[in-house]
Amino acid sequence: MDFNNHLLDGKKGIVFGALNNQSIAWKVAEKVTAEGARIVLTNTPLSLRLGTVSQLADETGSLLVPADATSVADLEKLVDAAMEHFGGPVDFVLHAVGMSQNLRKGRPYEDVNYEFFLKTLDVSALSFHKLLQTLYKKDAMSEWGSVVTLTYIAADRVMPGYNDMADAKAVLQAITRNFGYIYGRKRHVRVNAVSQSPTPTTAGQGIAGMEGMLQYADNCSPLGNATAEDCAALVTTLFSDLTRKVTMQTIYNDGGFSSVLPNPLA
Ligand SMILES: NC(=O)c1ccc[n+]([C@@H]2O[C@H](COP(=O)([O-])OP(=O)(O)OC[C@H]3O[C@@H](n4cnc5c(N)ncnc54)[C@H](O)[C@@H]3O)[C@@H](O)[C@H]2O)c1
Repeated sequence: MDFNNHLLDGKKGIVFGALNNQSIAWKVAEKVTAEGARIVLTNTPLSLRLGTVSQLADETGSLLVPADATSVADLEKLVDAAMEHFGGPVDFVLHAVGMSQNLRKGRPYEDVNYEFFLKTLDVSALSFHKLLQTLYKKDAMSEWGSVVTLTYIAADRVMPGYNDMADAKAVLQAITRNFGYIYGRKRHVRVNAVSQSPTPTTAGQGIAGMEGMLQYADNCSPLGNATAEDCAALVTTLFSDLTRKVTMQTIYNDGGFSSVLPNPLA
């Protein structure tokens, strides 16, 4: 199912978070460029070295700009570079950024390291506010532009294996609503979060019990788990002019899982 509907012809965007070809952002980059958009790709300098994003930049003919999403100085340089590259504001931005050292190092929720916890919140939630504030102050989004972040249902329901990332995603969803209100009033910019099924990516595989969760969610969901490609298709519609009045929402791209969720311990 790989149609080019020209949904994003003439649009320009910034895509955060493509690390390798399993990344959700990688699939989004491929899909939005196939639909006619031009993009700037960005990730941390370390991820640019460790991952394969330069290959994606070649494949999609995109500019690659390093930036740590927790650094306002980096975000300012990135936004300036994108506006210079495109000769004006951007139409869409994907924030696909997340990381928890408590998860990585196997520290359970009742024994977290608080330095790690603060880092989780900074990388996975506050970075979205920093990004929106930078775009807003620089007036870097076009009228009726669209910003999307990626979240997970553990923000709404208890899933102990998701650890401090669950709290970060709850903050992320609140920022989506609160900044969405301000940006909507100011410039008709939409801000939405897509709550995605468990997906086998580098970040996904760092979660305790991920394999079991993937299987469990797939079994519970009437349509089965949404893949990274399914997510890219939804995000593409959110960047298009077909969804101009959708804002401040958490949209579940999960095959129906969120509506049938029984007790996760059952
Ligand atoms: N995989 C899943 O099951 C799943 C489900 C729901 C939501 N999500 C969310 O989707 C998003 C993308 O994750 P993914 O699953 O594609 O995994 P991924 O590991 O491919 O992507 C995570 C990205 O975050 C980037 N990142 C980390 N720290 C950063 C920083 N300081 N500045 C800029 N970038 C930074 C990484 O370099 C990486 O590219 C994340 O927000 C994740 O929480 C994933």
